[in-house]
Amino acid sequence: MKEPTSDPSERVRFASDFLDFFSDRHASTHAAFFKDHVKSGMSILDCGCGPGSITIDLAELVSPGQAIGIDIENAQIERARMLQDARKVSNVEFRVGDLNHLPFNDNTFDAIFAHGVIEYFRDPVHAFSEIRRVLKSNGVFGARHGDWGGFLLATKDPYAKKAFSVFIRLMKRNGGNPYFGRNQVSFLRKAGFSRIISSASYDCWTPTLETARKVGHFMKVYFRSEEFVGPVLRHNLTESTTLEKIQLSFDDWGEDQDIFAAEAWGEAIAWKS
Ligand SMILES: C[S@@+](CC[C@H](N)C(=O)[O-])C[C@H]1O[C@@H](n2cnc3c(N)ncnc32)[C@H](O)[C@@H]1O
Repeated sequence: MKEPTSDPSERVRFASDFLDFFSDRHASTHAAFFKDHVKSGMSILDCGCGPGSITIDLAELVSPGQAIGIDIENAQIERARMLQDARKVSNVEFRVGDLNHLPFNDNTFDAIFAHGVIEYFRDPVHAFSEIRRVLKSNGVFGARHGDWGGFLLATKDPYAKKAFSVFIRLMKRNGGNPYFGRNQVSFLRKAGFSRIISSASYDCWTPTLETARKVGHFMKVYFRSEEFVGPVLRHNLTESTTLEKIQLSFDDWGEDQDIFAAEAWGEAIAWKS
């Protein structure tokens, strides 16, 4: 069987100045479905932690227990460590590591969390099996993954809409699943989890015009970044003239008074029993 790839050329990647978009994520919002299961004294692992804002919140919840955040990208881990210093949280450690080959013994963690990461993987069942392996018996796993079939967008510029369809093409080209949110229960069951509670929620990206402007800026950065433009042009996922129009569409996206964007997420709490 082919080993699941962690080759950077086959991953959706995010430019380092785009990471602030993820830094705005917190356990109170993005792990709301899971946080009642995260108790003081637990050991917890956050897989694909990105810049670490959710991980640090989870560390505060398990204190004096220990939290570990792992991410395959060194740039993300460096950001996470800077945030840890700024927030002065000592019971969390950030390490570079691959979720497809978790560097931990079997039965290590009381709780594990994964947010917005396994939807990009070619073999999600392998990743969930790896998570199950390092979870203690009766340990709890919280997974929240996007589903682009539920993305809501009201925008005047058709090229801003087109941007997300090209992003979906890029995800698929790299082996990811844009409709992962609705399918994760099936993957969890295949990985051996049998006791599962599902839910779903939305993140509104544009609650106020001020937030819409901020998100518009992140989109402008992402859709111009080498991490997006490089693979899109290499794999002919759209014409270069369309790409230019997509990029221009985010220049004043956040100034549109009628803008609305919301991301759909599938959630699951699964126990190793
Ligand atoms: C969309 S970001 C989400 C970050 C964070 N969980 C959040 O929701 O804010 C996905 C993260 O998964 C990481 N990642 C991708 N493949 C990985 C792998 N094989 N092992 C560990 N992390 C991985 C990426 O580097 C990136 O930081």
